[in-house]
Amino acid sequence: MNNCKRLPELPKLESERLILRKIILEDALDIFEYAHVPEVAEFLPWFPHQSIQDSIEFIKFTEEKFESDEWIILGIELKENRKTDRFNRYSRLKGVNNCADIGYVISKNFWGKGMMTEALKEVIKYCFDELADEPVEAHCEEANIGSWKVMKKCGMKNEGTLREKVFVKIVIAQ
Ligand SMILES: CC(C)(COP(=O)(O)OP(=O)(O)OC[C@H]1O[C@@H](n2cnc3c(N)ncnc32)[C@H](O)[C@@H]1OP(=O)(O)O)[C@@H](O)C(=O)NCCC(=O)NCCS
Repeated sequence: MNNCKRLPELPKLESERLILRKIILEDALDIFEYAHVPEVAEFLPWFPHQSIQDSIEFIKFTEEKFESDEWIILGIELKENRKTDRFNRYSRLKGVNNCADIGYVISKNFWGKGMMTEALKEVIKYCFDELADEPVEAHCEEANIGSWKVMKKCGMKNEGTLREKVFVKIVIAQ
């Protein structure tokens, strides 16, 4: 059952250095630039993009997920560098009890500059203020130190370890 109200359009959020907004086809090259790097996808369920076509398919996926009222996926644009935008994305899995399940990724060029902490704080605020989502959740692998730190810096609390909850990068033999 889905208790969330349907959004008429994707939100646009803003923080000191960032704009979080709808991802459009023109973003494909920027998405490919971060998504083809193996280290970026190490702890994520998807494989590194092999070509720009993978990034275009991802953009279509973001549109489909919004249309089907399942996920909100936003790109992050750096205010100071709008011509060479880099993106990360947030997904909100709409499910029972208005729970927001947030995921995130940012280009390796920007790691360690506080960007994701800044962006995630804005998304959490939006979930509470505008979507009335509670609780707000995020998950990461134990080895993903950067992600752990981001969650902690955003005030999230560790509620435990889920064992064998998610299997990443499974290829089922045909
Ligand atoms: C995890 C991730 C989102 C962190 O983004 P970020 O913008 O670098 O994070 P921030 O700078 O806001 O803060 C994260 C903290 O972790 C540290 N950190 C970032 N990447 C790290 C890494 N790979 N290894 C160890 N520490 C890392 C930062 O230095 C910072 O530390 P500090 O608080 O002591 O200054 C980013 O590394 C990323 O996109 N990784 C690939 C995708 C991913 O794993 N997403 C999370 C899935 S659960």
